[in-house]
Amino acid sequence: MTEELLRRTFELRGRDFENAGEKSTEVTSILKELDIDPDVILRVGVVTFEAEMNVVMYADKAILSFILTDDEIAIEVADQGPGIPNIELAMQPGYSTASDEMREMGFGYGMGLPNIKKNSDEFFLESQVGKGTKVYCMIRLNSNG
Ligand SMILES: Nc1ncnc2c1ncn2[C@@H]1O[C@H](COP(=O)(O)OP(=O)(O)OP(=O)(O)O)[C@@H](O)[C@H]1O
Ligand SMILES: [Mg+2]
Repeated sequence: MTEELLRRTFELRGRDFENAGEKSTEVTSILKELDIDPDVILRVGVVTFEAEMNVVMYADKAILSFILTDDEIAIEVADQGPGIPNIELAMQPGYSTASDEMREMGFGYGMGLPNIKKNSDEFFLESQVGKGTKVYCMIRLNSNG
């Protein structure tokens, strides 16, 4: 039986570049207080940061939920936004619809989603055009990528 140790939810706001990355930092700070493999924390950091940035860049708002059990960390980011019309295309490294302004800020390499997938032991992306997108990731505590 897996035991739930910690559950937190955070609200993310679209276009909020000023506070972008704040919630993923909060998540990794919580994990650093616990006795968790630094490599796992790094992977959680990548996943939450990239999912958070995608909300900031493309969606209106989202709820990030984070659940720690004794053997895994699950992260779900469910947004209200335009959705992704072609998930297969969006998952391709280098594909991006980022604006010039976003690219000037150093985003828009089209690497966020592929990196989320790469750093997750389980990855699931669901989207409804005109409604929103849900990213689910699971990272095992005793795995090494
Ligand atoms: N939450 C979302 N809502 C709507 N569209 C999204 C969302 N997340 C990703 N996308 C779409 O998928 C594309 C690819 O996303 P991905 O995160 O891989 O790259 P990026 O955000 O464009 O660039 P990078 O992550 O490297 O800064 C985005 O350009 C965007 O068109
Ligand atoms: Mg991205």
